[in-house]
Amino acid sequence: MSRIFSGVQPTGNLHLGNYLGAIRNFVRLQDDYECIYCAVDMHAITVWQDPQELRSNIREVAAAYLASGVDPKKSIIFAQSNVAAHAELAWIFNCVARLGWLNRMTQFKEKAGKNKENASLGLYAYPSLMAADILVYKATHVPVGEDQKQHLELTRDIAQKFNTDFGTETFPLVEPLIFGEATRVMSLRDGSKKMSKSDPSDYSRITLTDGPDEIAKKLKKARTDAEPIPEKVEDLEGRPEASNLVGIYAALADISKADVLAEHAGSQFSAFKPALTELAVEKFGPIGTEMKRLLADPGYVDSVLKDGADRARAIAEPVIREVKETVGFLVS
Ligand code: TYM
Repeated sequence: MSRIFSGVQPTGNLHLGNYLGAIRNFVRLQDDYECIYCAVDMHAITVWQDPQELRSNIREVAAAYLASGVDPKKSIIFAQSNVAAHAELAWIFNCVARLGWLNRMTQFKEKAGKNKENASLGLYAYPSLMAADILVYKATHVPVGEDQKQHLELTRDIAQKFNTDFGTETFPLVEPLIFGEATRVMSLRDGSKKMSKSDPSDYSRITLTDGPDEIAKKLKKARTDAEPIPEKVEDLEGRPEASNLVGIYAALADISKADVLAEHAGSQFSAFKPALTELAVEKFGPIGTEMKRLLADPGYVDSVLKDGADRARAIAEPVIREVKETVGFLVS
């Protein structure tokens, strides 16, 4: 049986990349699979978070799921810290994962920056908690953007080592689900950097709550080159900014990059950007409006999170119990 798990960090500024690379795919999977979607608040605190903002960002992630079309009756939506089994399994995985494996994680290197000595221990152990998120539900498939691939490889390594060490088949080897035309959306200011929640420039990203004016302003300022839109997808190579905007258009319109080129080849970006703006406003406008509506009265969002946590716990508890028995703990 297939089970889907994925998560988004509640660190504010949810953007186009999060939506096209992940959240939109969450919606598409829920008709065919049992899906569990999490606001990973314990991951968020691996770097400092203001408590007040964290609370509102957790609700923001839940509201983004709901506004994008995740159905809380079909799928489970919850906050990670409300299901203690994540932390319990993460500790066991800390004792399975090897230092050498974690030393290779590029995200730690990027996030810790030059001052590694000052990074939190949690940031270092981040991938082990992520493996626990997924495997505490024995999830088999994980929809994510391209940047999470390495973490999912580590999840497979942990699962395999646990199974081998204890001579069991406790955990499945998870498969990443990376699909769509925008699995790695780049910054609007710099085509060599991915769009991210933490970029200091607001102009680098379109957020889910940006209104039509903000979307128009940001796309107008988006960096491009001086060449017109090419005819062939291969000709986008070496043109990261152009390729990014064409990819965003393709993903929003739900067509291939080749189709976008067939429609727009020969146009200048000054003509393409208004078309892209119109499309982005059409697709994003209703999501932003619905998120704002949900966040104005968090009672409903909180009730979804509570119900989700109860359902998640019911799945996770027998698994953590099985794992504790396997490891040799006395389970009462
Ligand atoms: P996070 O919060 O950074 O991002 C959430 C999701 O959005 C995707 N994403 C992107 N996709 C395309 N282009 C981009 N520029 C872009 N930026 C982000 C991410 O790939 C992700 O799918 N470690 C995870 C959270 C996590 C998790 C998990 C995910 C914790 N536990 C278990 C899956 C399963 C993260 O930091 O995502």
